[in-house]
Amino acid sequence: MQRIFLKGIKGGTGCTAITANLACVLKKSDINVIAVDLDPKSDLGLHFGLLWKNTQGWSNAENFDDVLKCFYQDNDGVIFLPHGNKIPTPTEINGLIDSCKKLDTPKNTWMLFDCPSHIDISHYALDENDIVVELVNCDAICHSLIYKQLQKLKNTENSWHHFFLVNRYNSASVLEFDLFSLWQSTLPLMAPFFINSDEVIKESTAYRNVALNCAPYSIANDDFETLAGWLVSKAAL
Ligand SMILES: Nc1ncnc2c1ncn2[C@@H]1O[C@H](COP(=O)(O)OP(=O)(O)OP(=O)(O)O)[C@@H](O)[C@H]1O
Ligand SMILES: [Mg+2]
Repeated sequence: MQRIFLKGIKGGTGCTAITANLACVLKKSDINVIAVDLDPKSDLGLHFGLLWKNTQGWSNAENFDDVLKCFYQDNDGVIFLPHGNKIPTPTEINGLIDSCKKLDTPKNTWMLFDCPSHIDISHYALDENDIVVELVNCDAICHSLIYKQLQKLKNTENSWHHFFLVNRYNSASVLEFDLFSLWQSTLPLMAPFFINSDEVIKESTAYRNVALNCAPYSIANDDFETLAGWLVSKAAL
């Protein structure tokens, strides 16, 4: 099983949208996908057709047998686990992540975790094969946060694969172009491409869906296919 932890370096970078769209694109290429919502905002399910009224998820379950009853499958075959409306302790979060490892799944299963931006990635019990994708936007705040995060990573023992991925890139912005070029040429761990800013992502969310289903020929969907292909190449290493 390949595990991918997606997390925003700050709130609102587009982590949940990327998780849902990536899940759907991976599923289209015959990878078995399970998407798990680790964020108490519990909004990942909205991309998979779940109604906002649904408040139940793994955080409400008493034990893992009850968690098993919370899994859904969307129309594309993506399996997802909503968070629910309780605030779990860090131990409970790690307990869930660990229990998910024991799920009886086909070998080509990818588990995607939509992680809240306020919990540092080092709080999760990560394995050496895990891939962390930390979402950033091309702005000055993220610029300083990336440097801080790189410093932190340097000073902690980490064996997982860690990458920064630019989301919501605006090609008309000179500042974004300059920052992206600077990061590509000077920083380690940057993914060598970006996800463009594209209204399709917002529009498909409005339909409680993803770009692949709402606008398969969009720039957004091309970007998600690039991301999926790149992650497949990283997972194979
Ligand atoms: N590449 C993009 N282009 C255009 N809109 C985007 C893009 N990525 C995300 N969005 C939009 O930005 C908004 C915030 O996205 P999302 O909820 O995924 O962010 P988040 O990082 O998960 O936020 P939070 O930190 O609150 O969990 C949503 O309306 C989403 O549709
Ligand atoms: Mg989110």
